[in-house]
Amino acid sequence: MPPAVPGGREPLGRVLVTGGAGFIGSTLAERLADRAEQWVVLDNLHPQVHPGSRPPADLAAAVDLRIGDVTVAEDLDDVLADVRPDVVIHLAAETGTAQSLSESTRHGMVNVVGTTQLLDACTRAGHVPGHFVLTSSRAVYGEGVWRRPDGTTFQPGLRTHAQLEAGRWDHGTDAEHVPNSVAGTHPHPINVYGATKLAQEQILAAWTGSHDTRLSVLRLQNVYGPRQSLSNPYTGIVSLFSRLAREGRSIPLYEDGEITRDFVYIDDVVSALVAATAQPPVDRVRTADVGSGVRTTIGDLAREIARYHSAPEPHVTGQYRDGDVRHASCAVDDTTAQLDWSPRWSLRDGVARLQEWIATQLD
Ligand SMILES: NC(=O)c1ccc[n+]([C@@H]2O[C@H](COP(=O)([O-])OP(=O)(O)OC[C@H]3O[C@@H](n4cnc5c(N)ncnc54)[C@H](O)[C@@H]3O)[C@@H](O)[C@H]2O)c1
Repeated sequence: MPPAVPGGREPLGRVLVTGGAGFIGSTLAERLADRAEQWVVLDNLHPQVHPGSRPPADLAAAVDLRIGDVTVAEDLDDVLADVRPDVVIHLAAETGTAQSLSESTRHGMVNVVGTTQLLDACTRAGHVPGHFVLTSSRAVYGEGVWRRPDGTTFQPGLRTHAQLEAGRWDHGTDAEHVPNSVAGTHPHPINVYGATKLAQEQILAAWTGSHDTRLSVLRLQNVYGPRQSLSNPYTGIVSLFSRLAREGRSIPLYEDGEITRDFVYIDDVVSALVAATAQPPVDRVRTADVGSGVRTTIGDLAREIARYHSAPEPHVTGQYRDGDVRHASCAVDDTTAQLDWSPRWSLRDGVARLQEWIATQLD
């Protein structure tokens, strides 16, 4: 039995989902597509995510999949020629944090130009959807806010290559990361991916504001769970660790193993998306943080996965990735108040469920 779905059972009208064949989009379709009059997905079946550009075998029956690219005006025009969406859920994106430093143009094209192309196509079609829903990212916060022992706070910039090379992982020895929040943390991305996600937010806010329509922005933390691509080497640390432990290998830990993230299970993310989609914001724009509200070191994550598989202890390598933030987490209280939503999955339960799914895929 799936967990209770916030947002009632009201019909959703016509829904266009860009990138809707991916991890989050295909899980969302399973929960929501049969509530829509139409659930049209525009997805280019990116080969890095979908091996051989094959659509996922278990895509919900209600999905009307159109293969096309958000950067190509004609592909968007074709869809909007016969679909007048009430809601647009914009998921299509290049999502590699580290990859975005070496393939910046690709990230800029898909995430930034793909968003402006979507909006221009709406203009050409003479149609203003009633509600846009964007999955933004914790990456817009960069290193976020840190607090010194005397209580004063600061927002550090990025850790330079030289700093990482010297193994200086933290921003001062005594300072502590403060969980990010829309209200308390000014966005300050430190990698190209994060900058493109913030650009998406700002472009959509400008366009929807000028067209008197609504916008929901959900800033997602690190999402994990079944359906996340097992072939994409650039995203999904939980899936990557799981594959190593399944093979009986010791999981390598970057930096000193004390990097922290907020790992949020896919069902909790989909519940937040369902709630946001079903209840358009009263004040035209809403921005909300979606995470588990719990901060976990990558060492603890790795030990949990290794324990499940009786794999050897993880080991610290001292390696690092340029563009990684040291800590990321969020406070979810405001989102709970706004969306009548709260995360339900513990890391232990989510990790166990993911291992069961990976076994069905790989065995
Ligand atoms: N998974 C996470 O941890 C996470 C965290 C924060 C934000 N997000 C955001 O959520 C959204 C969905 O992420 P996901 O985890 O489902 O990723 P995913 O890679 O599984 O899905 C993305 C989908 O977009 C499609 N796509 C890529 N480029 C496209 C293009 N040019 N035209 C049309 N379709 C294209 C891909 O084929 C894929 O099906 C993204 O916007 C991502 O930035 C994800």
